[in-house]
Amino acid sequence: MSYNKGIIYLVGAGPGDPELLTLKATKALKKAEVILYDALVHPDVLDWADQDAVKIYVGKRKGHHALPQDEINALMVDYALQGKVVVRLKGGDPYVFGRGHEELTYAKTFGIPVEVVPGISSAIAVPQGVGIPVTRRGESESFWVITATTKTGSLSKDIAIAARSSATLVILMGVSKLPQIVDIFHGIGKQDTPIAIIQNGSLENEQSVAGNFNNIEQLVEENGIGNPAIIIIGEVAKHHPNYIAQVLPQEILAVA
Ligand SMILES: C[S@@+](CC[C@H](N)C(=O)[O-])C[C@H]1O[C@@H](n2cnc3c(N)ncnc32)[C@H](O)[C@@H]1O
Repeated sequence: MSYNKGIIYLVGAGPGDPELLTLKATKALKKAEVILYDALVHPDVLDWADQDAVKIYVGKRKGHHALPQDEINALMVDYALQGKVVVRLKGGDPYVFGRGHEELTYAKTFGIPVEVVPGISSAIAVPQGVGIPVTRRGESESFWVITATTKTGSLSKDIAIAARSSATLVILMGVSKLPQIVDIFHGIGKQDTPIAIIQNGSLENEQSVAGNFNNIEQLVEENGIGNPAIIIIGEVAKHHPNYIAQVLPQEILAVA
């Protein structure tokens, strides 16, 4: 059977704020006949698409799982094999913990052309949004972007390795693993290391906290910080505007 193959654009939608979309992403969206989009994609981003384009939500719904990956792959490929222009729209950058390369590989096995449009990753933009640079001369020579939660659901072993270095750690999908991360830093005597956690970065409902490993769990609980969030650890986290306010009172109490 011969197919009239369409094309798939794997597009990064940026960290949340719809104005952080690239020009290339808007061009792909304008051409799209079908859009498969994830949970962390801002709804306004879809306004770039034709109103007749088919828009299918494939992300997690409250209390429900996301569409399984093989079903997303099948949908994307089915539409492309019908000759459609398909945009697979993902939060941040498609290749940063986004399964983008798995989707590209799958589509290529059908001989479907795939173009990847990079997006601004939350790993850099979300810390930046609260004033934290991931590197700064004299403070941090590198940054390590780590998923806290691996394929099997366990904590990534890379966190313990990175914790011993002087790198900035940018941890995604890590809020539920915070107690284990705290234990790692206490275990190596680095409990005074600055840490910030930012939820819903770049969006109107953004909230964040900053402190160290002695008070971060309390701050998270008091402020009701949940997913999606970025955890940033290292000297640069001191640039969070609340860092001094949230660390100093604790030091004063310790002296008194
Ligand atoms: C599956 S990963 C996808 C990352 C995405 N590809 C990127 O480059 O930003 C999802 C995780 O990214 C982080 N994340 C994405 N957008 C975020 C935002 N606006 N604020 C805070 N964290 C965010 C959270 O850790 C979330 O659990």
